[in-house]
Amino acid sequence: MQAKIGTLPGDGIGPEVVAEGVRVLRRIGERYGHTFEFEEALIGGCAIDAVGNPLPDETLAVCEGTDAVLLGAVGGPKWSDPTAPVRPEQGLLELRQHFDLYANLRPVKAYPALADYAPLRADLLAGVDILFVRELTSGIYFGERAEQNGSDYAYDTMFYSTGQVQRTAKVAFEAARKRRGKVTSVDKANVLASMRLWRRAVSEMAVDYPDVELEHALVDSCAMHLLRNPARFDVVLAGNMFGDILSDETSVLAGSLGMLPSASLNEGAFGVYEPIHGSAPDIAGQGIANPIATILSAAMLLRYSLRLEDEARAVEAAIDAVLDEGGRTVDIVGDGALPLSTSAFADRVLQHLG
Ligand code: IPM
Ligand code: MG
Repeated sequence: MQAKIGTLPGDGIGPEVVAEGVRVLRRIGERYGHTFEFEEALIGGCAIDAVGNPLPDETLAVCEGTDAVLLGAVGGPKWSDPTAPVRPEQGLLELRQHFDLYANLRPVKAYPALADYAPLRADLLAGVDILFVRELTSGIYFGERAEQNGSDYAYDTMFYSTGQVQRTAKVAFEAARKRRGKVTSVDKANVLASMRLWRRAVSEMAVDYPDVELEHALVDSCAMHLLRNPARFDVVLAGNMFGDILSDETSVLAGSLGMLPSASLNEGAFGVYEPIHGSAPDIAGQGIANPIATILSAAMLLRYSLRLEDEARAVEAAIDAVLDEGGRTVDIVGDGALPLSTSAFADRVLQHLG
């Protein structure tokens, strides 16, 4: 097949990890006879520096012309002055909103090869395989807000409509059907009106999925259960902010934040694929960042936007193989072992792709 892929490396370690994701995609293209064309554009802090806008029109135009986008990360200390007129993160949020990427899929699995390294006991990690479905274009991230420099108050608003909840819930129920048949819907219905609506909307949707088991969980206790008994979760459905927080929390199950990919999808085949980690300014430029999250995001791109399931699985299997043979980046290396650089780890992945 022929496909055009946009790349938005962004800030910090973004360019380092996206470069490895692109190498893997190129190799997949060669091995399976696909022609992938790449076009790069600016987003985040580097775009603010270049043109004063974290999501330049030109970047949107590039993305419009592609089948899918691979993104690195945005942000960093250089742009985090709270009084700055624009912030790198706005570019990411506007990108998600522009393409109506409401369904954010964040798979979390525990790797047996890392069981001894992960901060949680190995017996708790057996069989952990969770899919977060996070609502990505509404909720408190996009509600009405007031913020004025020097003012002694500010507010954000959590807003949800039934339609916004249900289109995301549908993605969760459909996914559960193909997995272990269970959805845990996360809310804070004991306190927040928007979350009572969330719970009602999800329950209504569940009527169409009698074969899927639905449980409602309050976000605070769910945060605890995700670490106490992670293997009991299948699909976890959450709003924008709760999904953001819980997915970072759950990365300890995988061993490191550097392991978790994501897909942000709309009603069509287009999607933006990005690691869930940030720009990691503390290690940027050193060539030591873990490229797994980005390479697995590239696998999700193959699966969801290009519908290349075999190719996606080949990439995932190559990551498993490198981990099984002891390949480690600095964030997942145990005592006494030597970490691989970002590109050396990706070299090993390429070797397994043949
Ligand atoms: C994520 C990130 C973003 C979010 C930030 C960078 C705006 O934390 O994708 O999880 O909060 O959505
Ligand atoms: Mg986050």
